[in-house]
Amino acid sequence: MRILAVESSCDETSVAILEDGKKVLSHIVLSQMDIHAIYGGVVPEIASRNHVVHMTRVFEQALREANIDVDDIDLVAVTKGPGLIGSLLVGINAATAFAFANSIPLIGTNHLIGHIYAANIEHDLKFPALALLVSGGHTELIYMKDHMEFELLGTTQDDAVGEAYDKVARTLGLSYPGGPIVDKLAALGEDTYHLPRSFLDRDAFNFSFSGLKSAVINLVHNAEQKGEEVNINNMCASFQASVLDVLIEKTKLAAEKYQVKQIIVAGGVAANRGLRKRIFNEIPNIEIVIPSMKYCTDNAAMIAAAAYYQYQKEGALHNYLLGGYSTLNFEE
Ligand code: KG4
Ligand code: ZN
Repeated sequence: MRILAVESSCDETSVAILEDGKKVLSHIVLSQMDIHAIYGGVVPEIASRNHVVHMTRVFEQALREANIDVDDIDLVAVTKGPGLIGSLLVGINAATAFAFANSIPLIGTNHLIGHIYAANIEHDLKFPALALLVSGGHTELIYMKDHMEFELLGTTQDDAVGEAYDKVARTLGLSYPGGPIVDKLAALGEDTYHLPRSFLDRDAFNFSFSGLKSAVINLVHNAEQKGEEVNINNMCASFQASVLDVLIEKTKLAAEKYQVKQIIVAGGVAANRGLRKRIFNEIPNIEIVIPSMKYCTDNAAMIAAAAYYQYQKEGALHNYLLGGYSTLNFEE
Protein backbone atom coordinates (compact mmCIF):
# COMPACT_ATOMS: atom_id res chain seq x y z
CA MET A 1 0.00 0.00 0.00
CA ARG A 2 1.42 3.38 -1.06
CA ILE A 3 0.65 6.30 1.22
CA LEU A 4 1.35 9.95 0.44
CA ALA A 5 1.53 11.89 3.71
CA VAL A 6 1.53 15.61 4.48
CA GLU A 7 2.82 17.27 7.68
CA SER A 8 2.51 21.00 8.40
CA SER A 9 1.65 21.22 12.10
CA CYS A 10 4.44 23.63 13.05
CA ASP A 11 7.29 25.08 10.99
CA GLU A 12 8.21 22.16 8.70
CA THR A 13 6.47 21.72 5.35
CA SER A 14 6.82 18.04 4.56
CA VAL A 15 5.46 15.48 2.09
CA ALA A 16 6.55 11.84 1.97
CA ILE A 17 5.53 8.70 0.10
CA LEU A 18 5.93 5.35 1.85
CA GLU A 19 5.13 1.77 0.89
CA ASP A 20 3.46 -0.35 3.58
CA GLY A 21 4.36 2.20 6.25
CA LYS A 22 8.05 1.32 6.07
CA LYS A 23 9.72 1.69 2.69
CA VAL A 24 10.47 5.37 2.11
CA LEU A 25 10.03 6.19 -1.60
CA SER A 26 10.47 9.92 -1.07
CA HIS A 27 10.76 12.24 1.91
CA ILE A 28 10.88 16.02 1.50
CA VAL A 29 11.16 18.36 4.50
CA LEU A 30 11.37 22.11 4.10
CA SER A 31 12.28 23.74 7.40
CA GLN A 32 11.43 27.37 8.20
CA MET A 33 13.81 27.37 11.17
CA ASP A 34 16.00 30.18 9.82
CA ILE A 35 12.99 32.47 9.38
CA HIS A 36 11.72 31.94 12.95
CA ALA A 37 15.22 32.10 14.48
CA ILE A 38 15.12 35.89 14.02
CA TYR A 39 12.17 36.01 16.48
CA GLY A 40 13.57 33.42 18.92
CA GLY A 41 10.63 31.06 18.34
CA VAL A 42 7.96 29.99 15.86
CA VAL A 43 5.59 32.80 14.85
CA PRO A 44 2.31 31.01 13.94
CA GLU A 45 1.10 33.44 11.27
CA ILE A 46 4.48 33.47 9.52
CA ALA A 47 4.56 29.66 9.67
CA SER A 48 1.15 29.29 7.98
CA ARG A 49 2.01 31.80 5.29
CA ASN A 50 5.22 29.95 4.46
CA HIS A 51 3.37 26.62 4.28
CA VAL A 52 1.06 28.21 1.69
CA VAL A 53 4.05 29.43 -0.34
CA HIS A 54 5.92 26.11 -0.37
CA MET A 55 3.32 23.34 -0.11
CA THR A 56 2.74 22.79 -3.85
CA ARG A 57 6.45 22.67 -4.61
CA VAL A 58 7.12 20.18 -1.79
CA PHE A 59 4.20 18.04 -3.05
CA GLU A 60 5.60 18.03 -6.60
CA GLN A 61 9.11 17.19 -5.43
CA ALA A 62 7.88 14.25 -3.33
CA LEU A 63 5.96 12.84 -6.31
CA ARG A 64 8.92 13.35 -8.64
CA GLU A 65 11.45 11.70 -6.32
CA ALA A 66 9.21 8.70 -5.65
CA ASN A 67 8.96 8.33 -9.43
CA ILE A 68 5.41 6.99 -9.35
CA ASP A 69 2.12 7.92 -10.97
CA VAL A 70 -0.61 9.56 -8.94
CA ASP A 71 -2.70 6.46 -9.78
CA ASP A 72 -0.26 4.36 -7.77
CA ILE A 73 -1.11 6.16 -4.52
CA ASP A 74 -3.63 4.22 -2.43
CA LEU A 75 -4.12 6.62 0.47
CA VAL A 76 -3.46 10.27 1.35
CA ALA A 77 -2.70 10.95 5.03
CA VAL A 78 -2.36 14.34 6.67
CA THR A 79 -1.59 15.57 10.17
CA LYS A 80 -4.88 16.79 11.64
CA GLY A 81 -3.46 17.85 15.04
CA PRO A 82 -2.29 18.72 17.58
CA GLY A 83 -0.40 21.70 16.24
CA LEU A 84 -0.71 25.33 15.16
CA ILE A 85 -4.19 25.53 13.72
CA GLY A 86 -3.34 27.86 10.82
CA SER A 87 -0.39 25.70 9.80
CA LEU A 88 -2.40 22.49 10.10
CA LEU A 89 -5.16 23.86 7.87
CA VAL A 90 -2.71 24.50 5.02
CA GLY A 91 -1.64 20.84 4.98
CA ILE A 92 -5.20 19.60 5.49
CA ASN A 93 -6.50 21.67 2.58
CA ALA A 94 -3.66 20.63 0.28
CA ALA A 95 -4.05 16.93 1.14
CA THR A 96 -7.84 17.06 0.85
CA ALA A 97 -7.72 18.79 -2.53
CA PHE A 98 -5.14 16.33 -3.87
CA ALA A 99 -7.06 13.30 -2.58
CA PHE A 100 -10.44 14.55 -3.82
CA ALA A 101 -9.16 15.57 -7.25
CA ASN A 102 -7.55 12.16 -7.77
CA SER A 103 -10.29 10.09 -6.05
CA ILE A 104 -7.86 8.72 -3.44
CA PRO A 105 -9.11 7.91 0.08
CA LEU A 106 -8.08 10.42 2.78
CA ILE A 107 -7.20 9.93 6.43
CA GLY A 108 -6.37 12.47 9.18
CA THR A 109 -3.53 11.36 11.45
CA ASN A 110 -2.53 12.43 14.96
CA HIS A 111 0.88 14.16 15.07
CA LEU A 112 1.93 12.49 18.33
CA ILE A 113 1.07 9.05 17.02
CA GLY A 114 3.20 9.97 14.00
CA HIS A 115 6.18 10.76 16.27
CA ILE A 116 5.83 7.34 17.91
CA TYR A 117 5.49 5.49 14.59
CA ALA A 118 8.65 7.19 13.33
CA ALA A 119 10.35 4.42 15.32
CA ASN A 120 8.62 1.78 13.21
CA ILE A 121 10.28 2.94 9.97
CA GLU A 122 13.75 1.67 10.84
CA HIS A 123 12.83 -0.71 13.70
CA ASP A 124 9.85 -2.90 14.53
CA LEU A 125 7.65 -1.83 17.44
CA LYS A 126 7.32 -4.54 20.08
CA PHE A 127 4.43 -4.61 22.53
CA PRO A 128 3.73 -3.76 25.22
CA ALA A 129 5.74 -0.62 24.58
CA LEU A 130 6.35 2.68 26.33
CA ALA A 131 6.89 5.88 24.37
CA LEU A 132 8.70 8.87 25.79
CA LEU A 133 7.66 11.69 23.49
CA VAL A 134 9.79 14.79 23.93
CA SER A 135 9.64 17.80 21.64
CA GLY A 136 9.18 21.55 21.52
CA GLY A 137 5.47 21.12 22.14
CA HIS A 138 5.26 17.83 24.05
CA THR A 139 6.48 15.82 26.99
CA GLU A 140 4.48 12.63 27.27
CA LEU A 141 4.78 9.08 28.52
CA ILE A 142 2.47 6.84 26.52
CA TYR A 143 1.75 3.15 27.08
CA MET A 144 0.92 0.98 24.06
CA LYS A 145 -0.55 -2.48 24.54
CA ASP A 146 -0.61 -3.07 20.80
CA HIS A 147 -0.57 -1.23 17.48
CA MET A 148 -2.75 1.89 17.61
CA GLU A 149 -3.67 1.44 21.28
CA PHE A 150 -2.57 4.36 23.44
CA GLU A 151 -2.83 5.18 27.09
CA LEU A 152 -1.50 8.54 28.22
CA LEU A 153 0.38 7.90 31.48
CA GLY A 154 1.66 11.41 32.02
CA THR A 155 2.23 14.76 30.39
CA THR A 156 3.74 18.12 31.25
CA GLN A 157 1.80 20.39 33.55
CA ASP A 158 3.42 23.51 32.09
CA ASP A 159 6.33 23.89 29.64
CA ALA A 160 7.29 21.11 27.25
CA VAL A 161 10.88 19.95 27.65
CA GLY A 162 12.04 21.36 24.27
CA GLU A 163 10.33 24.65 25.10
CA ALA A 164 12.28 24.79 28.39
CA TYR A 165 15.51 24.19 26.43
CA ASP A 166 14.61 27.01 24.04
CA LYS A 167 13.75 29.46 26.85
CA VAL A 168 16.85 28.66 28.88
CA ALA A 169 18.98 29.13 25.75
CA ARG A 170 17.39 32.53 25.18
CA THR A 171 18.10 33.56 28.80
CA LEU A 172 21.73 32.57 28.32
CA GLY A 173 21.95 34.55 25.07
CA LEU A 174 22.25 31.41 22.90
CA SER A 175 20.71 30.87 19.49
CA TYR A 176 17.30 29.34 18.56
CA PRO A 177 16.43 26.48 18.67
CA GLY A 178 18.12 26.15 22.04
CA GLY A 179 18.19 22.36 22.40
CA PRO A 180 21.18 21.53 20.19
CA ILE A 181 23.41 24.32 21.56
CA VAL A 182 22.54 23.70 25.24
CA ASP A 183 23.21 19.99 24.64
CA LYS A 184 26.58 20.79 23.09
CA LEU A 185 27.70 23.18 25.84
CA ALA A 186 26.40 20.83 28.55
CA ALA A 187 28.98 18.29 27.41
CA LEU A 188 31.71 20.88 28.15
CA GLY A 189 30.50 21.78 31.66
CA GLU A 190 29.63 20.25 35.01
CA ASP A 191 26.52 20.16 37.19
CA THR A 192 27.73 22.82 39.63
CA TYR A 193 24.49 24.81 40.03
CA HIS A 194 22.42 21.91 41.42
CA LEU A 195 19.09 23.06 40.02
CA PRO A 196 15.78 21.62 41.26
CA ARG A 197 14.39 18.31 39.96
CA SER A 198 10.61 18.31 39.76
CA PHE A 199 9.53 14.76 40.29
CA LEU A 200 5.96 15.78 41.29
CA ASP A 201 5.80 12.82 43.66
CA ARG A 202 2.06 12.80 44.03
CA ASP A 203 1.62 12.72 40.30
CA ALA A 204 4.00 9.97 39.28
CA PHE A 205 4.22 10.22 35.50
CA ASN A 206 3.43 13.89 34.98
CA PHE A 207 6.20 16.40 34.34
CA SER A 208 6.89 20.05 35.11
CA PHE A 209 9.70 22.15 33.70
CA SER A 210 8.69 25.74 34.37
CA GLY A 211 10.18 25.75 37.90
CA LEU A 212 13.50 24.60 36.52
CA LYS A 213 13.37 27.22 33.77
CA SER A 214 12.57 29.93 36.35
CA ALA A 215 15.47 28.76 38.55
CA VAL A 216 17.87 29.33 35.65
CA ILE A 217 16.34 32.74 34.85
CA ASN A 218 16.58 33.82 38.54
CA LEU A 219 20.19 32.70 38.87
CA VAL A 220 21.15 34.56 35.70
CA HIS A 221 19.32 37.76 36.75
CA ASN A 222 20.79 37.64 40.28
CA ALA A 223 24.28 37.22 38.86
CA GLU A 224 23.70 40.16 36.49
CA GLN A 225 22.57 42.40 39.37
CA LYS A 226 25.64 41.51 41.42
CA GLY A 227 27.92 41.88 38.43
CA GLU A 228 28.94 38.22 38.64
CA GLU A 229 29.72 35.94 35.67
CA VAL A 230 27.53 32.94 34.93
CA ASN A 231 29.49 29.94 33.75
CA ILE A 232 27.42 29.12 30.66
CA ASN A 233 28.79 25.61 30.15
CA ASN A 234 28.14 24.69 33.79
CA MET A 235 24.66 26.21 33.66
CA CYS A 236 23.84 24.16 30.54
CA ALA A 237 25.25 21.03 32.19
CA SER A 238 23.26 21.69 35.38
CA PHE A 239 20.02 22.32 33.45
CA GLN A 240 20.49 19.25 31.30
CA ALA A 241 21.35 17.04 34.31
CA SER A 242 18.13 18.13 35.99
CA VAL A 243 16.01 17.48 32.87
CA LEU A 244 17.55 14.09 32.19
CA ASP A 245 17.35 12.90 35.82
CA VAL A 246 13.58 13.44 35.69
CA LEU A 247 12.96 12.12 32.16
CA ILE A 248 14.98 8.96 32.67
CA GLU A 249 13.75 8.21 36.19
CA LYS A 250 10.09 8.48 35.19
CA THR A 251 10.62 6.46 32.01
CA LYS A 252 12.33 3.74 34.04
CA LEU A 253 9.56 3.64 36.64
CA ALA A 254 6.83 3.45 34.00
CA ALA A 255 8.69 0.78 32.01
CA GLU A 256 9.01 -1.35 35.15
CA LYS A 257 5.45 -0.80 36.30
CA TYR A 258 3.99 -1.72 32.90
CA GLN A 259 6.53 -4.48 32.18
CA VAL A 260 7.19 -3.20 28.66
CA LYS A 261 9.29 -5.01 26.05
CA GLN A 262 10.42 -1.84 24.34
CA ILE A 263 10.94 1.86 25.04
CA ILE A 264 10.53 4.31 22.16
CA VAL A 265 12.11 7.75 22.53
CA ALA A 266 10.74 10.17 19.93
CA GLY A 267 10.34 13.87 19.10
CA GLY A 268 12.94 16.59 18.53
CA VAL A 269 14.52 16.29 22.01
CA ALA A 270 15.28 12.61 21.25
CA ALA A 271 18.22 14.12 19.34
CA ASN A 272 19.78 15.07 22.70
CA ARG A 273 23.20 13.44 22.97
CA GLY A 274 23.11 13.41 26.76
CA LEU A 275 19.72 11.68 26.76
CA ARG A 276 20.80 9.10 24.17
CA LYS A 277 23.90 8.23 26.19
CA ARG A 278 22.33 8.12 29.63
CA ILE A 279 19.09 6.30 28.85
CA PHE A 280 20.88 3.24 27.41
CA ASN A 281 23.22 3.13 30.45
CA GLU A 282 20.51 3.66 33.04
CA ILE A 283 17.88 1.34 31.55
CA PRO A 284 20.11 -1.48 30.27
CA ASN A 285 17.65 -4.36 30.45
CA ILE A 286 14.90 -3.09 28.11
CA GLU A 287 15.26 -2.56 24.35
CA ILE A 288 15.32 1.17 23.57
CA VAL A 289 14.66 2.42 20.05
CA ILE A 290 15.26 5.98 18.89
CA PRO A 291 14.46 7.03 15.31
CA SER A 292 17.33 8.55 13.34
CA MET A 293 17.45 12.34 13.44
CA LYS A 294 15.57 12.94 10.20
CA TYR A 295 12.57 11.04 11.63
CA CYS A 296 12.84 12.56 15.14
CA THR A 297 12.02 16.13 14.14
CA ASP A 298 8.71 16.90 12.40
CA ASN A 299 8.36 15.05 9.10
CA ALA A 300 5.71 13.47 6.88
CA ALA A 301 7.31 9.99 6.74
CA MET A 302 6.22 9.39 10.33
CA ILE A 303 2.65 10.37 9.39
CA ALA A 304 2.62 7.80 6.57
CA ALA A 305 4.10 5.21 8.96
CA ALA A 306 1.28 5.79 11.46
CA ALA A 307 -1.45 6.10 8.81
CA TYR A 308 -0.66 2.60 7.53
CA TYR A 309 -1.76 1.06 10.86
CA GLN A 310 -4.52 3.60 11.45
CA TYR A 311 -6.09 2.72 8.09
CA GLN A 312 -6.14 -0.98 8.99
CA LYS A 313 -7.93 -0.14 12.22
CA GLU A 314 -10.45 2.48 11.16
CA GLY A 315 -10.38 2.85 7.36
CA ALA A 316 -10.39 6.19 5.55
CA LEU A 317 -12.79 9.12 5.56
CA HIS A 318 -15.73 8.79 3.21
CA ASN A 319 -16.60 12.45 2.80
CA TYR A 320 -13.28 14.31 2.58
CA LEU A 321 -14.42 16.52 5.46
CA LEU A 322 -11.48 17.00 7.78
CA GLY A 323 -10.79 19.67 10.40
CA GLY A 324 -7.73 20.36 12.54
CA TYR A 325 -7.28 20.72 16.30
CA SER A 326 -4.64 22.22 18.53
CA THR A 327 -4.93 20.39 21.86
CA LEU A 328 -3.39 17.16 23.12
CA ASN A 329 -5.74 14.39 22.10
CA PHE A 330 -5.48 10.73 21.09
CA GLU A 331 -9.16 10.11 20.54
CA GLU A 332 -10.07 12.31 17.57
O1 KG4 B 1 9.85 17.54 17.28
P1 KG4 B 1 10.34 18.92 16.99
O2 KG4 B 1 11.16 19.12 15.76
O3 KG4 B 1 9.15 19.92 16.86
C1 KG4 B 1 8.05 19.88 17.70
O4 KG4 B 1 7.07 19.12 17.40
O5 KG4 B 1 8.12 20.59 18.72
O6 KG4 B 1 11.15 19.41 18.29
C2 KG4 B 1 11.82 20.66 18.34
C3 KG4 B 1 12.40 20.82 19.73
C4 KG4 B 1 12.98 22.22 19.99
O7 KG4 B 1 12.48 22.70 21.22
C5 KG4 B 1 14.50 21.98 20.07
O8 KG4 B 1 15.16 22.89 20.93
C6 KG4 B 1 14.53 20.57 20.62
O9 KG4 B 1 13.47 19.89 19.96
N1 KG4 B 1 15.82 19.91 20.35
C7 KG4 B 1 16.67 19.50 21.32
C8 KG4 B 1 17.81 18.99 20.66
N2 KG4 B 1 17.62 19.10 19.31
C9 KG4 B 1 16.39 19.67 19.13
N3 KG4 B 1 16.55 19.54 22.65
C10 KG4 B 1 17.56 19.06 23.37
N4 KG4 B 1 18.70 18.56 22.83
C11 KG4 B 1 18.87 18.52 21.48
N5 KG4 B 1 20.00 18.02 20.97
ZN1 ZN C 1 6.41 17.28 16.50
